[in-house]
Amino acid sequence: LLAPPAPGPLAGQHVVITAGPTHEPIDPVRYIANRSSGKQGFALAAAAAEAGAQVTLIAGPVQLPTPPGVRRVDVETAREMAEAVDAALPCDVAIMVAAVADWRVAEAAGQKRKKDGSGHIPPLELVENPDILASLGHAMLRPPLLIGFAAETEHVIEHAKAKLARKGADWIIANDVSGDVMGGANNTVHIVSAMGVESLSEMPKADVARAIIAKVADVLHQPYDA
Ligand code: CTP
Ligand code: CA
Repeated sequence: LLAPPAPGPLAGQHVVITAGPTHEPIDPVRYIANRSSGKQGFALAAAAAEAGAQVTLIAGPVQLPTPPGVRRVDVETAREMAEAVDAALPCDVAIMVAAVADWRVAEAAGQKRKKDGSGHIPPLELVENPDILASLGHAMLRPPLLIGFAAETEHVIEHAKAKLARKGADWIIANDVSGDVMGGANNTVHIVSAMGVESLSEMPKADVARAIIAKVADVLHQPYDA
């Protein structure tokens, strides 16, 4: 027997969220990473679950508790994250918050890389990771509402607009990470869509999450009109 859907504005909706950084191995003891804390993505998962959604949270390596009622899938690399997103489909809403590493080491070493004593510095050959959001934007099972994030340190809105088109997303939520946003408690975001730009004031990440989920509930309840 299936439990009846939880009440709430997102009852019956499956929401897939990616969060956190990815780690890309160099060798068994080293990796490439970034400063993403996972807080904004986890806050969105919590807010979506509170709104009654069935939530799949695909999390890179972070030390954060799983929000109540959320199904969590832990991954390490961008490629694992891409596979976990595929496996979670279909969904009604996808929110790609993860700071996916853009590049991975072409061939991670099987053993720890050693200095050879000559002072020679070994090069790291990088290759590009799959773009999870862009793949979803052009996928057969494209979610009806597809949302990306864009962390920018300058020209925030312009870059977000370019990403909206390039990735086939419905919204790009741009945040200015030139301050201490990555890892910090607050966030200032701009929701960029074909309808224009909606800027929210600076607030705690949990409040940003609730505002975004309220907007998601709003558009899901509007009949689609071509
Ligand atoms: N993203 C993704 N897979 C990647 C890179 C990014 O799914 N390999 C998603 C992020 O989760 C985010 C959005 O794409 O929702 C924008 O990420 P961002 O890093 O800002 O965009 P990039 O296209 O990687 O551009 P750049 O880092 O050069 O600004
Ligand atoms: Ca990137």
